[in-house]
Amino acid sequence: MTASFQAVRGMNDRFPPESFRWARLENVLRDWLDAYGYREVRFPIVEATGLFVRSIGTATDIVEKEMYSFVDGLNGESLTLRPEGTASCVRLALQHHLLYDGPQRFWYQGPMFRHERPQKGRYRQFHQCGIEALGFAGPDADAELILMTANLWRRLGLQDVRLQINSIGSSDARARYRTVLQAYFRQHVDALDEDSSRRLETNPLRILDSKNGDLKELIAAAPQLSEYLDEASHRHFEALLALLQEAGVPYEINPRLVRGLDYYNATVFEWVTDRLGAQGTVCGGGRYDGLVEQLGGKPTPACGFAMGLERLLGLLEQDSDWQAETGAVPDVYVLNQQQTAWALRLSEDLRNAGLRVLYHAGGGSFKAQFRRADASGARYAIILGEEERERQLLSLKPLRGQGEQRQVSLDEALRLIRANG
Ligand code: HAM
Repeated sequence: MTASFQAVRGMNDRFPPESFRWARLENVLRDWLDAYGYREVRFPIVEATGLFVRSIGTATDIVEKEMYSFVDGLNGESLTLRPEGTASCVRLALQHHLLYDGPQRFWYQGPMFRHERPQKGRYRQFHQCGIEALGFAGPDADAELILMTANLWRRLGLQDVRLQINSIGSSDARARYRTVLQAYFRQHVDALDEDSSRRLETNPLRILDSKNGDLKELIAAAPQLSEYLDEASHRHFEALLALLQEAGVPYEINPRLVRGLDYYNATVFEWVTDRLGAQGTVCGGGRYDGLVEQLGGKPTPACGFAMGLERLLGLLEQDSDWQAETGAVPDVYVLNQQQTAWALRLSEDLRNAGLRVLYHAGGGSFKAQFRRADASGARYAIILGEEERERQLLSLKPLRGQGEQRQVSLDEALRLIRANG
């Protein structure tokens, strides 16, 4: 027997009806991004490994153990399947000098790759829709990002997502805090698990993010980053919170929120839900004022976020309206007896007139063709038999609701179909 193939673990196929829900979400996203003046960018799925190492940081989970990196055997280059979009988006803007024209608002969408342990809501190929606001310094830019996400939840009818927010300060402030935190955890080194012991030296802030319940008390009693914030970050955060309050966006300050990528400074935030089990973060982002310069550009303040589309759909699929999504159904199903060029051409004429038309390929009895027509969900059947061909007419039959089959001209058929659109 020939061995059959399966999709790679943690990487999913999409097909109807699920693919209809993806398309519907993508349409909502486009309208929403247009409403805020964001413009689409597309960058390759593969980039130089160094881009991600330099931007995301060597001591992060992503770079340490989750990247799909490989050497291109043809030329020896070290390449990586993109684990996220911010680094590529900034690389794109720099490479094409797009920041010379002033601040830019960009968005992107597509697959990202991280070699994580797959579980519900966590995949090795997953999809993000991300936005990056490049060249914006003020807290109003952070506030707009957050208002924008709140607006999307409203458009999608999602209610149970909560905003968690924090400020992680400047890199100097974090360096000071890091020393304090390291000293604190060193005093309790026996209580740390393996992961946290490793992070103690490389990235002690990430210990705060640990999901290990046994460390909860130790973490709760740790010194807080907010006590070590620099003055500018403190002022920025206060101004942002005031804007959110005035705009009526509820938030929770989560002093433990540090995020898993090194490029952030000052504002970080996540939108979380309890309705998805363990993987409840649907959106994460923040400010990264140093990244453009770090990747070779002029100092440029920036902020952004990305949403996990699998997780967003996981939430939407709990709603019956999204479960029932059928995608676009045909207006017309064309039944034909003798598989003539006439039937093919007539189907083209109907499409050129703006209708969605499913042509019955392969012939067969009219009875069998009608069964297909019904199953297609089309509103009308057009029947092209011998008699119709001789008279150069077509038989039109409504498939939904009342109505008789009638022989009509093409124009008359179009008029009737549109009138009942
Ligand atoms: P991130 O928090 O790593 O941030 O990912 C953003 C979102 O992608 C997460 O909140 C989650 O919804 C989704 N996600 C991440 N990993 C997985 C996975 N393995 N399976 C399913 N969904 C996942 C970033 O990637 C930053 N680039 C966001 C950003 C943009 N910050 C500034 N601009």
